[in-house]
Amino acid sequence: MIKLLHGDCLELMKDIPSGSVDLILTDPPYGIDFQSRRKKNKDDWMPKIQGDKEPFVAFIPELKRIVSDKGAVMIFTRWDVQHHFIQLMTDAGMKPKNVLIWDKVVHGMGDLKRAFASRYESILFWSNADFRFPDGRPTDIIRVQRVAPQNLIHPNEKPVELLETLITKTTVSGDSVLDAFMGSGSTAIACINTKRNFIGIEKDDKYFEIAKSRIEKA
Ligand SMILES: C[S@@+](CC[C@H](N)C(=O)[O-])C[C@H]1O[C@@H](n2cnc3c(N)ncnc32)[C@H](O)[C@@H]1O
Repeated sequence: MIKLLHGDCLELMKDIPSGSVDLILTDPPYGIDFQSRRKKNKDDWMPKIQGDKEPFVAFIPELKRIVSDKGAVMIFTRWDVQHHFIQLMTDAGMKPKNVLIWDKVVHGMGDLKRAFASRYESILFWSNADFRFPDGRPTDIIRVQRVAPQNLIHPNEKPVELLETLITKTTVSGDSVLDAFMGSGSTAIACINTKRNFIGIEKDDKYFEIAKSRIEKA
């Protein structure tokens, strides 16, 4: 079952029944007001991400209600803003169990002269009381090459292989996964490939349509 919801997750998450989702795997705006320098074509910059003026944390209090007793939550974030997410999760009664490292293999740009070249993103991991890893205990560093800039269909697109790894390490076939900020629908594709049910929410009209057609093709 694939369910796509077009609108603001703060509103739409209220309609998701309590305890109905086994994994919330999501990639909210980090609050960096990111403008990709990459053009889709010669006249058209990739648009800025909605809600990206400050770390988007308002959805966090709703997560604990939605996740099942055997479920887990994974939130993509970044070293310089992750404390906002950790604080809000803790306030909501969900103290993260790990900060997973996604090693992107290839580093990004940033301050070329005065900062180390950044090659990882962090993923906050929280598990509920009855959660158990289905197939042994994974380690907290996951190495998957990022999507090459020329192939991106969303400026913050996550590789499907990475999402498949996170999903298969924490859920079993037939479980339900929610992505409240689905962007181009990468988590949905990973769910289709691994036979998980999926609920996706996206506010931006253009990215919702991109995700929908990508999912229909898959
Ligand atoms: C970091 S991107 C996710 C990218 C995604 N992981 C992918 O692989 O394509 C965050 C997405 O959240 C969307 N967004 C921002 N505010 C939102 C809100 N209140 N409700 C739902 N979606 C929202 C943005 O339009 C953006 O596409």
